[in-house]
This record gives sequence, structure tokens and C-alpha cells, in this order.
Amino acid sequence: MSHSSQTAWDNALVQKYNYSGPRYTSYPTAVQFSEGLDLEELSSSIEALAKGDRPLSLYLHIPFCAHLCYYCACNKVVTKRHDKAAPYLARLYQEIEDKGRLYESKRMVEQMHWGGGTPTFLNEDEIHSLINHLRAYFNLLDNDHGDYSVEIDPRECTRQKLHLLRYEGFNRISIGVQDFDEKVQKAVNRVQPIKLVEDLVNRARHIKFKSINMDLIYGLPFQTAATFEKTVNQIIELSPDRLSVFNYAHLPERFKSQRRLNPEELPAPEVKLEIMQNTISQLEDAGYVYIGMDHFAKPTDELAISQRQGQLHRNFQGYTTHKDCDLIAMGVSSISHIGPYIFQNHPNLDNYIKAVDAGKIPALKGIKTNKDDQIRSDIITQLICHFELDMDQKSKQHKIDFSQYFADEMERLKPFIEDGLLKIKNNRIEVLSSGRLLIRSICMVFDAYLPKDSETKSFSRII
Ligand SMILES: C[S@@+](CC[C@H](N)C(=O)[O-])C[C@H]1O[C@@H](n2cnc3c(N)ncnc32)[C@H](O)[C@@H]1O
Ligand code: SF4
Repeated sequence: MSHSSQTAWDNALVQKYNYSGPRYTSYPTAVQFSEGLDLEELSSSIEALAKGDRPLSLYLHIPFCAHLCYYCACNKVVTKRHDKAAPYLARLYQEIEDKGRLYESKRMVEQMHWGGGTPTFLNEDEIHSLINHLRAYFNLLDNDHGDYSVEIDPRECTRQKLHLLRYEGFNRISIGVQDFDEKVQKAVNRVQPIKLVEDLVNRARHIKFKSINMDLIYGLPFQTAATFEKTVNQIIELSPDRLSVFNYAHLPERFKSQRRLNPEELPAPEVKLEIMQNTISQLEDAGYVYIGMDHFAKPTDELAISQRQGQLHRNFQGYTTHKDCDLIAMGVSSISHIGPYIFQNHPNLDNYIKAVDAGKIPALKGIKTNKDDQIRSDIITQLICHFELDMDQKSKQHKIDFSQYFADEMERLKPFIEDGLLKIKNNRIEVLSSGRLLIRSICMVFDAYLPKDSETKSFSRII
């Protein structure tokens, strides 16, 4: 049964609990966001909340890509025309100005992430002026102590651009790799030789980027256990500090380009399970720690350190070491989390532009969380980040009697206990090694918005 040291794999249990579920980058999840958001109320509440003193996390969405990867499920605009960026950036500057002027300088930006699309679609002048704009309205740290990261498409990042990003204060990069196999790369329209990635990694290390993440996807056309094993070995050679290994989300009704992939060429579910199982043992044998969900990190990486210290958190960018930040997101489709409010900007570029031009918060939908949401969010975050939970401590923290408040949930945890996925001892819930991979099924027990029989259609499968 057990295939590797930390994360046990039991095929029967994986099959049993491998139903669709949210990835809990927020609770309540985006499915609960409603379009009936009162923008006036949101504006004035945000203005009041801005006077607090929590540190800030900024997210900026740059939606453009020069090429179309057929598998892609991100919010993006594929274009060869570089001049598309300028009108978008003008609105982004406006949004930065509108939001930034609310925040006092004492609110330090501890974390910043530029995602996409492809942030490196921007040319050097645009990167420079975007960061200057941010500096003018937010208090960015200039001592390299912030956690400032940017997503990089190796095909769209010159040496100069990489140097500029480091010079402007970024200290982490995340590289889209997906797979090194040529046949797979051709099938998904993303041909990206390993040499390109290797050069980028060497250069990034040379100019002292502190952490390098790589994204892989399993479930793509023509992948087999053998081809993916080779890709993972090549990745281990490159030695990234962190790795995201995503399960390919195939939703051709929603993402048109995915219809270009031939379903018959996609690996069968049992092949995907084998790929995931091999990947976990390869990475753990190479010294990586399984952080949870789709993430791995070296034990020396801040993500793993933070998990060991019980300080890990989860937000829209995945796992993070910054627990106490308000998340201010700017740009098309981006999601903010400020105090009790979680809200998403317009996902459509034209609508986003119109909303900014109309002088409104460009938000389309969201939710004002209530006390119960906040308690459940904390419970889910605790489990998904740390695989254990102290019920007495949570009772005290939330002024509840945990076993009474969650009486129904405790009942629904019983099958997981009987199957050896978790145990409850001395008022502590502990997820066991065979439950780690299935953590989202366990978290779903605490999700008040899901139907009680769990199986849901609107989310991708766990593995
Ligand atoms: C915005 S992209 C990363 C930056 C840059 N655009 C690139 O591709 O190099 C974010 C990541 O989402 C993942 N991704 C995109 N579409 C996906 C899908 N359908 N299923 C699973 N992961 C996906 C890929 O691993 C990709 O690297
Ligand atoms: S994977 Fe990255 S580069 Fe490819 S289309 Fe999606 S966002 Fe663009």
C-alpha cells in the first residue's frame, strides 16, 4: 500500500474518495459569489477597512498571452498584437490609483504576485512603469524582505526582462513548464525545449531570485507513466524550490481551445492515478515535502518551514506564508479578500474596462462572509494547510463548543476514521498519511454550501 514515506497511497481509498471538489483557495468558494453585490456599500466598507493596520498582499492580473496553449483554463486574451496592452494598463493604473489612495503608508505590502495570462507579455518599459505606479500608491518594501513573485512563460522572457524584474524587487518566479515531452508539447501547442527552461533557471539563480516554482500538468494528451516519470526526473535535475503538479481540468464546454484536444489521446483515469502516484514517490525520494493539494516544496523553502511552524495559509494564489494580509487584487477577473468581503472583478476585458472608466469598483460578484463562514473558513484552512486541528483551541478562538457546533460534521467524519484516513484523539483531529492526498474530501465535510452527499458536478476531480 504505502508507496513512499510521508504520503501513503491506497488505490481503493483513492478511488472511493476521489470525487469532484473545490480547491478551497477561499471559503466560501467562488461558486457562492453573487452578482447582487452592492457596490456602494462595498466601496464605503472598503474605505473604512483600509484604515486598519494589517499588512497587504497585492495581486495583479495581466491577461495577455502571445500563444494559445490548448489545455489552458486561465483568464487570458491571446494576441500577437502587443499594442493591446496599453489600453488595459491605463485602466490598471486607474484601479491602482483608486484603491491605493485609500491605504495609509503604514500598511506594508508584504506580498505581491503578478499572474496571468502572462505578465512577461509586457515589455520592459511597461513593467517598469507598472511597478512605479504601484510604488506611488502602495508601500512596497525595498529591502528584499517582501515575498514578491511573478509568473513567467519561458518563451516570453528575455534575459533583460528577467534582470529588470529582479532589479524592480521581485524575488520569486513561477515558471510554466507543464511537460517536457515533445509529443505532448506539440499536441497542446506549447513547444518549449528544456534548454529554454534550464537557461532561465540558471540565470534566475545567478541573479539571486530566492525561490523558483514550476508548474506541471498531468492528464495531457499522450502522457504515460513512463513519459511523465522522465519529465519529473528532468524537473528534479533542475531542482526548483517549489512545484505545482496540477490535474488537467478538462472543461471543453467552458474553454473552447480544449476542444482541439482529442479526448481519445488523453490518458485514462488509471494512467493518471499511476502518474500521480509515481510523481509523489519520485519527488519525496528526491527530498521534496508534500505540502498538500497539488503542491510540493523543498524542506528549506519558506512554504515547508511555514507549514512546520503552523503558520501556513491558503489564498487565491494557493498556499502562502502570509496569514494576516488583506488581499487587494487588481485587473480583470482578479479576486480580492478584504475583511469580511471576497469579491471578483469583471472576468470580461471589455466589461472591466467599462467599469473602471465609469469610476466604479470594477467588481462583478462577491460575498460578504458571516460569522459561520469565517469559522468554517478557518477550520478548512487549518486542515488543508496543516492536516491537524486542535478542537479545544478552535473552541476558544471562535467562542464555540466545537463538538456541539460541528456535531453533524463529526458524524460525517466517521467513515474517514473507519477507513484510516484520519483519527480523533485528545480532542485533536489528525489527518493520517493516507488521508493527505484526499484532504479536500475531508474539508468538504465542513463546507456548509455543499449538498451533504458530497459528489458535485461543478468542480474538477481531486486526482
Ligand atoms: C497563468 S499560467 C502560468 C504563467 C504563464 N501563462 C505560463 O503558462 O507559462 C498558470 C498555470 O495554470 C496551469 N493550468 C492552465 N490551464 C490548466 C488546466 N486546464 N488544468 C490544470 N492546470 C492548468 C498551468 O500549469 C499554468 O502554468
Ligand atoms: S498556460 Fe499560460 S501561456 Fe498558455 S495560454 Fe494559459 S495563461 Fe497563456
